Amino acid sequence: MIKLQDIVMNFGENTITTALKNITLEIARNDWITVLGASGSGKTTLLNIIGGILKPTSGIVQIDGANLNDMSRANIQEYRRKKIGFVYQDYKLFNQYTVIENVMVPQLPYGKRNEIEEKARHHLEEVGLNHRMNHFPKELSGGEKQRVAIARTLLMEPEILLCDEPTGNLDRKNTENVMNYNGPKILDSKKGYVKVGL
Ligand SMILES: Nc1ncnc2c1ncn2[C@@H]1O[C@H](COP(=O)(O)OP(=O)(O)OP(=O)(O)O)[C@@H](O)[C@H]1O
Ligand SMILES: [Mg+2]
Repeated sequence: MIKLQDIVMNFGENTITTALKNITLEIARNDWITVLGASGSGKTTLLNIIGGILKPTSGIVQIDGANLNDMSRANIQEYRRKKIGFVYQDYKLFNQYTVIENVMVPQLPYGKRNEIEEKARHHLEEVGLNHRMNHFPKELSGGEKQRVAIARTLLMEPEILLCDEPTGNLDRKNTENVMNYNGPKILDSKKGYVKVGL
């Protein structure tokens, strides 16, 4: 599904930082891979390239056979909206919105508000934040913010879920829940068992 070939990413003009050097990688549908590396080794850069946020200096990025380099800006935006779920390292929550609004906002243009709200509540319950739905991001701990970001991404039911250190701020129990996550379909809070959350 995802194919990277000889990806090079250089930053800067006068002083060049090579963040990625000849990365070749294939990820099949339903695969779950973890990228490990020291701080500054290029993990975020790699995810940004797969997510269509950054364009590599050279190399080929193919998603389902389509070459990202050949896509127009509009098509890349559509690819990001339809296929990619991104849990950012720094959460990217909107400070002026409440927790539930933060989870709902990206989907509001594309569906009925009450249906989106119902799903948002469901996913926030799954990550153990039912008691924080009407709070603002500044009132949350780091791990709670991270779980809001995860709930927001789950609501999109993306084909490709890119998580940049999704457990960096979580305690052991929450980390296990996130790492055991296997795709939106297995989430079932009705059975009293949730894979993501407390
Ligand atoms: N926009 C940028 N401009 C210049 N250099 C950059 C830019 N983004 C990243 N870099 C550099 O590229 C390298 C890789 O950065 P990246 O953020 O991908 O690392 P990382 O593995 O995610 O690190 P961390 O574990 O600290 O999040 C670093 O040396 C960083 O300084
Ligand atoms: Mg990073």
